[in-house]
Amino acid sequence: MPIQGFLFDLDGVIVDTAIFHYQAWRRLANSLGFDLSEEFNETLKGVSRTESLDRILAHGGLTLPETRKTELATQKNNWYLELVSRMTPADILPGVTAFFSQVEAAGIRTGLGSVSKNARLILDQIGMMDAFDVIIDGTKIAKGKPDPEVFLKGAAELGLSPSQCVVFEDAVAGIEAARRGGMPTVGIGSPAVLTDADLVIPSLERLTIADVLALAPVSRA
Ligand code: BG6
Ligand code: MG
Repeated sequence: MPIQGFLFDLDGVIVDTAIFHYQAWRRLANSLGFDLSEEFNETLKGVSRTESLDRILAHGGLTLPETRKTELATQKNNWYLELVSRMTPADILPGVTAFFSQVEAAGIRTGLGSVSKNARLILDQIGMMDAFDVIIDGTKIAKGKPDPEVFLKGAAELGLSPSQCVVFEDAVAGIEAARRGGMPTVGIGSPAVLTDADLVIPSLERLTIADVLALAPVSRA
């Protein structure tokens, strides 16, 4: 069946909030007495807030009670939201708006597939709330990426089968989630990092619908 839907991750694909997540987590780690490298940060992309905190605390060799962990997650989110609150439509990543115009003209349906609980706030801030036919965010799912839940729900809400949808992702965990869901993937970033994506591009600039539709539907276990 032909591809009829595109599912987009948010952080790092539509807007560069991936860097804000890193800055806020790094600030938190520094306040606890250790640092986070960019390389370690790659492993956090697409991972939920609570799971990210668990991985960061393990990385720093800390074991903390749940109450303290809740405080730390809230602190990180407050720092993150401070950065997000300054965003405007000018923060939409290069090529996104033009690509969405092509997608709409081609009659392809669109979904957001993000693990973030702040996704709607960000879409509102950048004026893209109406750009998606369906929005699946961190408030609608039980499992973060690399579990395929977020993308399977996106496809289902679009009324499409997984193999009719292409996923656009900047995270290793997100590419894995899409693959586990049986969806072809376009990686946004570096081919050295996104080794399992079907196609890797630095940004949506210059990407054409034809490039994406040329990706053969995949069927994976
Ligand atoms: C993902 C990000 O989109 O959302 C992760 O890649 C982040 O870095 C996750 O942890 C959860 O986001 P939030 O906004 O709910 O803390
Ligand atoms: Mg992302």
